[in-house]
Amino acid sequence: MLFFFFFVFAALGPVIVFGAQKQLGQDALNDILARGAPILGIDNGCSRTSKTCDWMRNVPDHTKLVHMNLPGTHDSATWNYSQATQDSLIRYTGPNVPPAVVFRCQNQSLLDSLNAGIRVFDLRFAYNPGMQRYPRFSSWALLAPTATVDDVWFGLYNWLDKHPTEAVLISLNYESGTGMSRDLKLEQLIYNLMTSNLASRYWVQANGTLGTLGEARGKLTFLQRYNYQFLPNTESKQFGIHLAPEQWTDNSPSIEIVYNNAAHQSAFIEDYYEIGLPNGAGVAENVQWKLNATIAHLENATTLHPDQLYITFASSEHNDDVPPENPIVMALGDGSVPGVNQKLLPWLQQHRGKRFGVIMLDFFGAVPGLVEAVIGV
Ligand SMILES: *[C@@H]1O[C@H](CO)[C@@H](O)[C@H](O)[C@H]1NC(C)=O
Ligand SMILES: *[C@@H]1O[C@H](CO)[C@@H](O)[C@H](O)[C@H]1NC(C)=O
Ligand SMILES: *[C@@H]1O[C@H](CO)[C@@H](O)[C@H](O)[C@H]1NC(C)=O
Ligand SMILES: *[C@@H]1O[C@H](CO)[C@@H](O)[C@H](O)[C@H]1NC(C)=O
Ligand SMILES: *[C@@H]1O[C@H](CO)[C@@H](O)[C@H](O)[C@H]1NC(C)=O
Repeated sequence: MLFFFFFVFAALGPVIVFGAQKQLGQDALNDILARGAPILGIDNGCSRTSKTCDWMRNVPDHTKLVHMNLPGTHDSATWNYSQATQDSLIRYTGPNVPPAVVFRCQNQSLLDSLNAGIRVFDLRFAYNPGMQRYPRFSSWALLAPTATVDDVWFGLYNWLDKHPTEAVLISLNYESGTGMSRDLKLEQLIYNLMTSNLASRYWVQANGTLGTLGEARGKLTFLQRYNYQFLPNTESKQFGIHLAPEQWTDNSPSIEIVYNNAAHQSAFIEDYYEIGLPNGAGVAENVQWKLNATIAHLENATTLHPDQLYITFASSEHNDDVPPENPIVMALGDGSVPGVNQKLLPWLQQHRGKRFGVIMLDFFGAVPGLVEAVIGV
């Protein structure tokens, strides 16, 4: 917030102050980006000749977001969660955390993902155990002890300033697995952050509806996957769409959430993530189950409810299997048997030009052409 003020002030001041203020602003930004790096990563840029860099600049302004094909990442913040990271955080989490491979769903940072064409992120917040001060990004496991939600939003705003043709959707939910209880203070922190002056400049303010790409360019669009349980009167500043957690049926291949009753707007969601086969069914069988659920939902996306939002999760796991199919195995196979990503690619290519909606992927970068096939370029 203070940092933003520097820029506003500097723009009005004499040239010499401008230089000094600009330096301060840049230093403050660098500081924030460094703190956010465990979640944001580093911005390595993208080549304008690649098909996925700034790909939305070729899409007309009047295009409705619900008509677009938007590649996303599931549990986006887990991209650097290795055993080394987990071991380094044991002083916060205690030792009884399942192995890192169970949680890890990505291999590219948020900024690398943006530069690779990803436009939807699935992020979860909670308190950092032992430091009940700021909301921290979290999967069920603690991912990074210092990066705050504020830092990461700054990093995304900064990326959007450099890519003003692009629109990014942020799904945010509360995940309690860090063992810290949720309270009014946590809700107040996230609410203040989301309703600040700075946020109102960078988040699309429309309430209960998804508009056009033109309205969403250079901004974040909010998919609110949590409720405020302690904080009253949050509706007066509500924006984005509210995908109420009590309507998001766990592990379901077919969910409909009505997010705007009056305007008859729904989200159709496939989130069948934990494959329910008996133990030992093997990688091929587990992958086939998930692929079927994914394609069944995508087929509906291509043919039904053209003006409603479709979200299809291609991500999954069968961590309890013996041997386990962790997210990476489900997405990419085990070396001899292909995973969901490889098997989905030809289907997407065959259905080029159709509406898929949002497709949430694990380890998207490991299968060349996958993001292009989702976008249809
Ligand atoms: C990724 O994790 C490793 C191991 O914990 C750590 O050394 C490195 O700093 C992390 N990278 C970032 C960008 O935080
Ligand atoms: C947003 O929409 C909800 C649900 O229709 C409503 O309760 C709330 O008052 C609206 N808020 C604003 C700021 O328009
Ligand atoms: C997946 O779908 C195909 C085609 O509809 C079907 O032949 C196959 O039996 C299904 N497999 C599983 C595991 O559901
Ligand atoms: C696809 O649409 C049909 C017709 O509305 C519905 O019965 C079916 O459950 C849908 N499938 C999925 C996976 O959502
Ligand atoms: C993860 O990223 C590294 C560095 O870019 C790459 O060498 C490796 O192949 C990637 N692995 C997967 C599974 O995507």
